[in-house]
Amino acid sequence: MMLFESHKYLRNHIENQLDASKSIGFVPTMGALHDGHIALMDRALSDNDFLIVSIFVNPTQFNNPEDLDKYPRILEQDLELMKSRLDSDRFLVYAPTVEDVYGHNTASKTYNFDGLENVMEGEKRPGHFNGVGTVLQFLFKVVQPDNAYFGEKDFQQLQIIKKLVTSLNLDIKIIGCPIHREKSGLAMSSRNARLSRDGLEKAAQIYQILQKAKTSFKTHTVPETLNFVTDQIKSVSEFTLEYFTIADENSLQTATEKNPSYTYRGFIVVHLEGVRLIDNILLD
Ligand code: PAF
Repeated sequence: MMLFESHKYLRNHIENQLDASKSIGFVPTMGALHDGHIALMDRALSDNDFLIVSIFVNPTQFNNPEDLDKYPRILEQDLELMKSRLDSDRFLVYAPTVEDVYGHNTASKTYNFDGLENVMEGEKRPGHFNGVGTVLQFLFKVVQPDNAYFGEKDFQQLQIIKKLVTSLNLDIKIIGCPIHREKSGLAMSSRNARLSRDGLEKAAQIYQILQKAKTSFKTHTVPETLNFVTDQIKSVSEFTLEYFTIADENSLQTATEKNPSYTYRGFIVVHLEGVRLIDNILLD
């Protein structure tokens, strides 16, 4: 398996060593890989001739310095996991330094994502999507993939990346993949590694509550379902609810009542043991 730290060497390798007629699938990650990442890589390997994975904890998308500090960085373990789990050697890894990506100016560009960036994660984490856009614009230019794969756990991010690619006029297909869950139902996340055993058990209730919300939504109004979820989360004393929102999955605009031409999703963020847990569910 080849490992690149420099985007110049990587670009040079892609141009001179990879057959231009073959397709490239791309899975950008921040490392601390888990089964959810491996599922994205498996999908990219089955759809494409070659897979490129990036592992880079992108500082500009963290609005909270403590979260950036605590983000797990375990490159050796990540590489071992890929070697042992991917049933192919048709892949390479790009794991750059901050300087390789940003030079001497670790700053974000500013994007307009038609309002998708102003709600939920964008509202709660100012600057987050400018950071995501900046790093992906850079990575897409270096890798120039045919297809790029992202998990639906970060559903708002997925919609924003589709908008980014359209507005930059890039010829890259963005493919959203279903949320990968633990047996307990907890959405897989690199942040789960910071939960205690008891925390992991408690956190599984988030998905159980989302499933009940889906059932409730069939026969109840939007405000009733919002109240139901708020009460359920409050009944677990260790949980702090940051938000639960019901929104149209395309515009991400918050719903106050049901409109049959929209497709609704419930989006939730819960804090447990100092860890910020995010999840979502299709409601109809
Ligand atoms: O979802 C992530 O892991 C990150 O936001 C991404 C897309 C790799 C950009 O840093």
